[in-house]
Amino acid sequence: MIAVDGPAASGKGTIARALAKHFDLPHMDTGLLYRAVALNLWRWGGDPTIEFEALRACGDLRFDPDDEELRSEPVSRIASKVSSYASVRAALLQRQREFAAQDGGAVLDGRDIGTVIAPDADAKLFVTASPEVRAQRRVRELLERGMPSHYEDVLLDIRARDERDSSREIAPLRQAEDAELLDTSGLDIEQSIAEAIRLVERQLAEA
Ligand code: CDP
Ligand code: CDP
Repeated sequence: MIAVDGPAASGKGTIARALAKHFDLPHMDTGLLYRAVALNLWRWGGDPTIEFEALRACGDLRFDPDDEELRSEPVSRIASKVSSYASVRAALLQRQREFAAQDGGAVLDGRDIGTVIAPDADAKLFVTASPEVRAQRRVRELLERGMPSHYEDVLLDIRARDERDSSREIAPLRQAEDAELLDTSGLDIEQSIAEAIRLVERQLAEA
């Protein structure tokens, strides 16, 4: 069981997918669950500042992971808001725990995998990069998906989301004590993946 956590656009998703491939494990991007709740709410015109409405949006959580709307900036913002509600986190908990506990292991990435979902994970990474590098990556990514954006807006958004994710009471974004820190600011994708595999193999050997 491998836990990968970190802030927005740190590279955790890319790294988690590569680790799953390398170790031949199933992978879950847990951010998609919060994004699916946010998309439900967005489509209904629900109010993300009302916890009950956010909880209602957890009801029917079938979604297409390739749906571009899941990754849009408004949905990212709403996801970050609804993820601070205890009831929303509780509604999504079992699905993640079951995935993490499956025979043969799994890779999960998110904000609270190493701290809450799978505190006993065999290997844990906390992936970071500077806000500026992460904003540049997100701008490039959005452009590639045909959604042009402004660097300054994206940077503000990333900082706001970092602040909300780190300061919330329940399951805040933080590095687990036994997680290895991987700063990808100066690393390209191949280098980030190689370093992640090295750190995980070392943790598995020590376990
Ligand atoms: O890809 P990016 O890091 O921008 O976002 P994501 O991982 O898809 O997560 C979207 C939002 O869901 C985050 O801003 C978090 O507020 C929330 N989230 C969470 O609270 N806990 C998780 N395990 C995963 C995501
Ligand atoms: O999952 P998270 O939001 O943390 O990040 P990601 O989706 O894995 O990566 C965000 C963007 O940065 C993607 O377009 C990656 O291809 C890119 N990236 C990069 O340019 N350099 C890295 N070392 C890691 C990711």
